[in-house]
Amino acid sequence: MNALAGSPDDCGPGGRQRADDAEAMVLANRPAADGYRLMTVRAGAAAATARPGQFFQLECPPAGDDRPYFRRPMSLYRADADGGVEFLYKVTGSGTRALARLGPGDQLRVLGPLGRGFALPPAARAVVLLGRGVGIATLAPLADAAAAAGLAVTALISARSPAHLLAADRLAAAGAAVVPLFDSDGGSAPARVERLLADLFAAGRLDVLYTCGSARLVALAQHLGRRLGFAGEVALEQQMACGLGMCFACVRDFVAADGGRVSRRVCWDGPVFPLDEVVP
Ligand SMILES: Cc1cc2nc3c(=O)[nH]c(=O)nc-3n(C[C@H](O)[C@H](O)[C@H](O)COP(=O)(O)OP(=O)(O)OC[C@H]3O[C@@H](n4cnc5c(N)ncnc54)[C@H](O)[C@@H]3O)c2cc1C
Ligand code: FES
Repeated sequence: MNALAGSPDDCGPGGRQRADDAEAMVLANRPAADGYRLMTVRAGAAAATARPGQFFQLECPPAGDDRPYFRRPMSLYRADADGGVEFLYKVTGSGTRALARLGPGDQLRVLGPLGRGFALPPAARAVVLLGRGVGIATLAPLADAAAAAGLAVTALISARSPAHLLAADRLAAAGAAVVPLFDSDGGSAPARVERLLADLFAAGRLDVLYTCGSARLVALAQHLGRRLGFAGEVALEQQMACGLGMCFACVRDFVAADGGRVSRRVCWDGPVFPLDEVVP
């Protein structure tokens, strides 16, 4: 195992959390909803310290014609004290197809935890998680942390249809009030989501909103946040190479303090950013 920063109890440079590049063993890798899989690996001590919103760079061992060169970034879905880490992922291309072929006992290198995760402001009493598709994977551990801190948690989660809905049981088990929204019956239409959020705000159930990188959800949350006066954070997805802040493959524009634009690295400065700084 290669330690990238400090001793086991240390933070790395700039207060960064220690990350390990560990040889991890697959414990389980089974289908979740349609097109998605849930993989559990045993990844070592640093992995167990991962916080909601952080991610890992997963080696995707060559399988058949799929020979992915770069590691693929995956959000923490769940971590336990024994170094067990879960990832909920969508099979999209060569990297995730290779991951999908791994079975119990197989090994892969897992680098992390990486990046800056979500923050729960001390004054918050009620939070809303607004997620869609696999972005919900990033929000699920935040439900655990918020509930453990005594906050009321509402999760508005949307999907194409009930067969594509992810993590509803996981969020409910964490103590969240889960509101599923489907494209198939028009329930996830922006106007409806906006109404639901405004109702939650009026009922005192929305102090801070957390969402994932869907441009449509970010724009909607920004618009409503400005109108009603709530803050929020966004977990972004961006194609990455190193995941460590060194290659600048993941740079994108953000809103600067003076209203102009500033370039930031999603892997190093994020992947979680303040809602009002994200350019949808
Ligand atoms: C911080 C972070 C956390 C993530 N967490 C998860 C997660 O928990 N579960 C999950 O399923 N996915 C997650 N992703 C996205 C995941 O990394 C990509 O889906 C994966 O790299 C695709 O690899 P592939 O080789 O299977 O597909 P590729 O063949 O590389 O790509 C398939 C399609 O996905 C697009 N794509 C590839 N990489 C990304 C990316 N990083 N962001 C957006 N689009 C991409 C490509 O343009 C292409 O259209 C995360 C991404 C980031 C940056
Ligand atoms: S992926 Fe290399 S700097 Fe972000």
